[in-house]
Amino acid sequence: MADDYKKRITELREALNELNYRYYVLNEPAVSDFEFDAMMRELQAMEKAHPDMADPNSPTQRVGSDLAQSGFAQVEHRYPMLSLSNTYSPEEIREWYLRVQKGLNEPFEVVCELKFDGTSISLWYEEGRLTKAVTRGDGVRGDDVTANVRTVRSIPLVLNGGGWPRTFEMRGEILMPWAVFDRINAEREEQEEPLFANPRNAASGSLKLQNSAEVARRNLDAYLYYMLGDNLPGDTHYGNMQRAREWGFKVSDAMKVCRSIDEITEYMAYWDSERKNLPVATDGMVLKVNSLVQQRNLGFTAKSPRWAIAYKFQAERACTRLVSVSYQVGRTGVVTPVANLEPVQLSGTVVKRASLHNADIIAQLDLHCGDMVYVEKGGDIIPKITGVEESLRDSGAERVKFITECPECGSALVRDEGEAAHYCPNSDGCPPQIKGLLEHFTHRKAMNIDGLGSETVALLYEKGLVRDVADFYSLTVNDIAPLDRLGEKSAKNIISGLEASKSVPFARVLFALGIRFVGETVAKRLTAAFRNIDALMDATYDQLIEVEEIGGRIAESVLDYFSKPAHRDLIARLKAAGLTMVEEERVALSDRLAGKSVVISGVFAHHSRDEYKALITAHGGKNVSAVSAKTDYLLAGDNMGPAKLEKANKLGVKIITEDEFLIMTGEA
Ligand code: IVH
Repeated sequence: MADDYKKRITELREALNELNYRYYVLNEPAVSDFEFDAMMRELQAMEKAHPDMADPNSPTQRVGSDLAQSGFAQVEHRYPMLSLSNTYSPEEIREWYLRVQKGLNEPFEVVCELKFDGTSISLWYEEGRLTKAVTRGDGVRGDDVTANVRTVRSIPLVLNGGGWPRTFEMRGEILMPWAVFDRINAEREEQEEPLFANPRNAASGSLKLQNSAEVARRNLDAYLYYMLGDNLPGDTHYGNMQRAREWGFKVSDAMKVCRSIDEITEYMAYWDSERKNLPVATDGMVLKVNSLVQQRNLGFTAKSPRWAIAYKFQAERACTRLVSVSYQVGRTGVVTPVANLEPVQLSGTVVKRASLHNADIIAQLDLHCGDMVYVEKGGDIIPKITGVEESLRDSGAERVKFITECPECGSALVRDEGEAAHYCPNSDGCPPQIKGLLEHFTHRKAMNIDGLGSETVALLYEKGLVRDVADFYSLTVNDIAPLDRLGEKSAKNIISGLEASKSVPFARVLFALGIRFVGETVAKRLTAAFRNIDALMDATYDQLIEVEEIGGRIAESVLDYFSKPAHRDLIARLKAAGLTMVEEERVALSDRLAGKSVVISGVFAHHSRDEYKALITAHGGKNVSAVSAKTDYLLAGDNMGPAKLEKANKLGVKIITEDEFLIMTGEA
């Protein structure tokens, strides 16, 4: 049968959705990873062979796309996203309960639940399918982050069972589980990237990434706690949440219906300690009147509902003495002040150090030597100083003054206008910066040199075998083998790793050089625009800022880097060693659009128009500017010209959306 593939694709999608739900929502895996992957591969292959079955809500779409989206479209909320009034005081919870009692003057129930500490999200469903995911924004309009949210495996793309309203909204919290947070921060530490202060920042930062494939790798989770719409299934909040769970949403088990203030107090006491065993961060509890009719009767104030209140847990804090401030110099030369404290017990661990971030924070705290300071952990891993007990300050205590010279090499520190950080400008002579740069160069995302971990790099540097990145390529097995903990086998491995790194693409080589402000994305933009190292070295300020996303700060930094003879010399040595310093010609990606002519109109959420032009060509198609009878597709974005639309309709030109285009070309 010709339609057999449709049946099989549908079958696979349903099965994979169910398995996803069991794994990510119920935490009850039903098959082995191996079986799951095999089904996923089969579905991927079938979808590739049958583009007519493309679907943005297919389980295959959860891996996201590596192509950068350019900004997020703004979307107006159907219902404003309000916040909750909150309190730290159990007494105020009692007062709220009495107010509700008085306002309703009839029996009522209160649903107690946990307050998840992530970033709020509004999910729109139509006919049981996810159509949009919007951040809170200013409460009235938010960012359309649908592509990123599709990668969150505990969010159903297609609902289970039936009985849901034709259109409705689910609100909840996107979270980064503690385990993922720890893993990502460990990676960032290794890369000397700034750490996320807490899982909340990590979750909201991840949701705003332009690259949905990277979001997919962040393993975000989501709990849903609020249903909105016209024809909700039941008339209580609790009941609706249980239905939502049946449809595939992750709804917390910690939800409880309470019928008295005593039951509420009991719930609060239990979860105050039990929440610490949860895999995700919580910062309090939320109390909601259960009946939707009663909710409506109580109504809203300008900012928040009267029928709900949040009780926030007090962050634990301790008071201890500041012993000294030390300064760490990172790979990029940024100097970070660290407070050394008299050891103090705080939420189960002994705290001896706290980050002070930068000079402004020290000034804001008006920190003096020997001060008694308050330290808090809250949801943050690195404890921070939140205040100073001035009444306990010694009369002669001196104000903490930020250092003016690099503690490692003695160079005068600089602070650029508008920047919070001080840094050491001696990037080629300051030991932690050299060591850091050598490590950065060998890192997985840069030259990816097997066998050269941070310890080995430090050893090579300390033995004087490697002073700059070009020295790596003069190493021999005989240089390395005699070193501690290495030997012949590791030495050979390192040499072949170095050899292999010569075919690493130009963009990664540029990133590996560690030029200030030239991260992975900027490196890609620069290599795409200038194509080879000579053109880049000779680029003028004006040419640099013409490149998309390259501003004055980056341009200055690139110019400054290549203005130094030592750097030009380094590039010459790397070139001589055989590293890739030219951008490969853009290769054809497929012939899916062979012979097709495509007109682009309007603005897009996932890529810029230029990127779409490039994609059309890369898939064998032709981009044309005007609609004619020969046009095969009109790729239609938002706000597209009405004349083009009318003409396309008249000539019967097929109009496709951005998502359809991406699926058609296999770029989704
Ligand atoms: S209900 C109109 N329930 O806390 C009421 N919110 O300060 C809508 N939050 O914006 C919110 N856990 O981001 C609700 N179980 C929970 C929650 C929760 C976390 C967040 C949410 C909200 C904020 C309120």
